[in-house]
Amino acid sequence: MDPAPSAQLQLGVLVSGSGTNLQALLDASRSGELSASVRVVISNRPGAYALERAAQAGVPHEVVRHQDFPNREAFEDRLLERLRAQGVEWIALAGFMRVLGSTFLRGYPGRVLNIHPSLLPAFPGLHAQKQALAAGVKLAGATVHVVDEGVDTGPILIQGAVPVLHTDTEETLSQRILKLEHLLYPRALQGIAAGRVQWRDGRVCIVDDSGQIPEPLWFP
Ligand code: GRF
Repeated sequence: MDPAPSAQLQLGVLVSGSGTNLQALLDASRSGELSASVRVVISNRPGAYALERAAQAGVPHEVVRHQDFPNREAFEDRLLERLRAQGVEWIALAGFMRVLGSTFLRGYPGRVLNIHPSLLPAFPGLHAQKQALAAGVKLAGATVHVVDEGVDTGPILIQGAVPVLHTDTEETLSQRILKLEHLLYPRALQGIAAGRVQWRDGRVCIVDDSGQIPEPLWFP
């Protein structure tokens, strides 16, 4: 986690769906809240609305369909080639519905981030909000973590929490978490851009300007 303080992150965003997190990153980059330039948006799904969001923001965007490749390695090689062609240095997964393996991760070691709609390590994988409701937890949330070869297992950078209401459906809880995600992801990436990510006692954290670890985000 080593960009110089105040460096601009050259960001590639991988998407599969509606792209509201992508929109949050584009908006934060435009407002200056996030020192990043989104160099390219790549979707593995042709119809993803995220591509439309990229187009509207004037950001290069393309489709790399996983079905067009004989195996995962070939798919990941093509992703790497396209990201490098656009000068990408950091990757943000934003609703990207493929698990990335060692071929891809070796291309950007420690530089691939993901956002997941749960307080990891609880409820990894698909339908995290549904899992949270089924478990009867009273707090849910979102996590930004560094991607490793597991499913939602990498080092946790930042988390935020929201309440689970007894009236919640999967939809209402998902919406509450999503609003939180839109705050968390730019914040985590800005921590990296500002060189404020540190390893302490084997755990990774983002410190504030005075070197303190800020309180977790609570967003009722
Ligand atoms: C988000 O909940 C994210 O945490 C998960 O997929 C969803 C993507 O939403 N990985 P969007 O495409 O950013 O709107």
